[in-house]
Amino acid sequence: MKKLDFLREYFKNMRTVGTVVRSSKHLCSKIVSLSDLSGAKCVVELGAGDGVMTHHILEKMPADAKLFAFEINPTFCERLRLIDDERLFVIEDSAENLELHLENHGFAEVDTVFSAIPFVMLPKELSNSIVSTCHRALKPLGQYLQIHYSTIEKDLYKGIFGNLNITFHLRNIPPTFIFACYKMAF
Ligand SMILES: C[S@@+](CC[C@H](N)C(=O)[O-])C[C@H]1O[C@@H](n2cnc3c(N)ncnc32)[C@H](O)[C@@H]1O
Repeated sequence: MKKLDFLREYFKNMRTVGTVVRSSKHLCSKIVSLSDLSGAKCVVELGAGDGVMTHHILEKMPADAKLFAFEINPTFCERLRLIDDERLFVIEDSAENLELHLENHGFAEVDTVFSAIPFVMLPKELSNSIVSTCHRALKPLGQYLQIHYSTIEKDLYKGIFGNLNITFHLRNIPPTFIFACYKMAF
């Protein structure tokens, strides 16, 4: 997808798209490098956009793993469906319905969640519901990795996961924080 098309989607849906440009390849490879996908069976991407990060996740995923990419924007979903990889399932639905879709595909738990949903722009209850759903769906010690452009939302993750590690990355427009949490075993 061209930069201009991404910009057009931003102007049509500012609150949900959340940024005027897609993530840089440096940011995508950084967030994927923070994950451990070896042995993963079920990986989830929330707010997949036009698939820029999806490609990086697929590259690192084992051959027998599945990637469920959630995206509510129909134009972005069309782009995602062009990715020719049988491990990828494009789910055109809100991330809050994650558990329902996983169940339909026969998965009880998730190894890793990557998210670029702009929670700062969404109603608090919706953000809380999506992050709580991810926490429930993750396996013990499963990872949740989230992109943010500020640290305002840090209490959301600390409250739900009880842990949070934040790193800052300059090689993106705008510079970006990666929030990393894991589901505690007990
Ligand atoms: C900041 S863009 C990120 C796009 C891409 N992943 C990237 O890194 O460039 C956020 C995306 O989240 C999607 N989104 C927003 N709310 C969502 C929700 N409740 N469920 C699934 N996707 C959502 C938007 O449509 C948008 O494509």
